[in-house]
Amino acid sequence: MTSGSITTSTTVTDDFQKPPSVPKEEVIYKPWDLLVYEIWVLGIVSTWAWGCSTSEYLLPQFRANIGKNHLDIGSGTGYYLRRSEIPASTLLTLLDLERPALDLGLQRCGRPDARGLQADILQPLPVTDKFDSVSMYYLLHCIPATVAEKCAVFKHIKRNMTRDGVIHGASVLGKGVRNDNCFAAHVRRGVLKAGIFHNIDDNAYDFEHALRVNFEEVETRVVGSVFMFRASNPKQNEGDLLDS
Ligand SMILES: C[S@@+](CC[C@H](N)C(=O)[O-])C[C@H]1O[C@@H](n2cnc3c(N)ncnc32)[C@H](O)[C@@H]1O
Repeated sequence: MTSGSITTSTTVTDDFQKPPSVPKEEVIYKPWDLLVYEIWVLGIVSTWAWGCSTSEYLLPQFRANIGKNHLDIGSGTGYYLRRSEIPASTLLTLLDLERPALDLGLQRCGRPDARGLQADILQPLPVTDKFDSVSMYYLLHCIPATVAEKCAVFKHIKRNMTRDGVIHGASVLGKGVRNDNCFAAHVRRGVLKAGIFHNIDDNAYDFEHALRVNFEEVETRVVGSVFMFRASNPKQNEGDLLDS
């Protein structure tokens, strides 16, 4: 799963949908691609290039922060959802910019009752639902936008969170991190050149600042080259209507 195929379309649909039955000829991500993504990106690259093991750091944070009404943004192969033993009573919504990616996540998340929402996270969400937990893993570094535009995501999303809601995630940084090792430098050059990563200016200071502006409680850390965050209790700024 990469964002290499992101289109410039920002069209959104506000209808929640059930996982569709996709005709064979329209399936874009084949099992082999999925296996490659999960082994290569989440297994090898995350650990050996970015210095942040998925199983040691990212998955535990994900698992520890699932509420009763969860929104996963940019679900990819559904890896985290599938591996988190989310209770059947938890309402689950997946959001993605791209329809094929959304369909893939819905098919692979392990929850046939999960809802799908096609939308651009750079814009306010086209629904009024309030989630008590929101996840966004390896999403921000893929978005072709300025750091300021990426930071605005937190302002948008908090309007769809409960008063005690938690947001958590991780993103590979481009600035202010340790020097890449040879493998990381090679991978980074490749993903930037291919238009898969857009993170040259992404830095921990700006992301943490944006989180502190929008949330009462903020915890961040940098593991290797990866910015990890958990923030809760969205601030109720003037003009924002946060229902409990
Ligand atoms: C690299 S994948 C991350 C997959 C998964 N979270 C993981 O860590 O394995 C990024 C996902 O974010 C989606 N995405 C990219 N830009 C987006 C945007 N502006 N709004 C919503 N989703 C977006 C992509 O379509 C893709 O499915």
